Amino acid sequence: MNASTKPADLMPQTIAFKLNDQPLHAYEGETILKAAQRHGVDIPHLCYKDGLRPDGNCRACVVEIKGERTLA
Ligand code: FES
Repeated sequence: MNASTKPADLMPQTIAFKLNDQPLHAYEGETILKAAQRHGVDIPHLCYKDGLRPDGNCRACVVEIKGERTLA
């Protein structure tokens, strides 16, 4: 095995999704907000800050997920 080859179980798991019709991917455990930021998509947010618990109090960052009844 060379340095550029990783066993599949060491590769980060990702999930593909669309945000405003733009295809993105998120890593396992990553929030939609962080995945969007990593792709240069700004989602407005007020109460979220790195290092703080994501309580979701202000609801400024909520997004609609196709097929879900409530905002996430
Ligand atoms: S930034 Fe406040 S709920 Fe997301």
